[in-house]
Amino acid sequence: MKARNMGTVVWLTGLSGAGKSTVAASLERYLTGLGLRAYVLDGDKLRAGLCSDLGFSDSDRQENIRRAGEAARMLVDAGVIVIAALISPFSSDRAGVRQRFGAGEFHEVYCACPLAVCERRDVKGLYRAARAGRIPLFTGITSPYEAPTDADLVLHTAVETAEESTARLIAFLRARGALPMAIDAAALAG
Ligand code: ADX
Repeated sequence: MKARNMGTVVWLTGLSGAGKSTVAASLERYLTGLGLRAYVLDGDKLRAGLCSDLGFSDSDRQENIRRAGEAARMLVDAGVIVIAALISPFSSDRAGVRQRFGAGEFHEVYCACPLAVCERRDVKGLYRAARAGRIPLFTGITSPYEAPTDADLVLHTAVETAEESTARLIAFLRARGALPMAIDAAALAG
């Protein structure tokens, strides 16, 4: 039987607290609601299992992104729409993952949210801990974040609501032809 899905990767990058996981979960809900196979590869979850041996040095982050990219590759081969939500702070690592995919299969989406806003939100209390010196090598504070200059889409998650960002992301994926035709029909009908 022909798979209804064609695999694709939506790779969300941005600072901790920028809204990556929220947008990822929201997009996943939307896609699975339409009967499509979608799966979120979330940094926090990967670090609890597949990448539990890794820390936050530059080289460990590089390996973290490489593994996430390989997991994404396998899921895409299985026809899944992969939504990756990892800080992925280094341009070269993001480019490395992109290279594992064909043209039109990989979409880099920058969740652009100023550090000050992420820090004010501080949902997990990590920025406060980092400022107090309790977390070394914290992204944006003591470890760099290389903002994409060539993202396929930029979501302004400081000013847009999660719903607005998700809607823009869905519209972008549709315009790109990254979602199966069935979804267009279903979405328009709904
Ligand atoms: S990445 O840099 O390797 O892409 P990843 O997305 O997997 O990071 O994990 C980031 C999450 O780990 C953050 O959302 C936060 O919850 C947690 N975390 C713990 N320590 C750090 C740190 N030093 N820098 C960034 N995030 C950290």
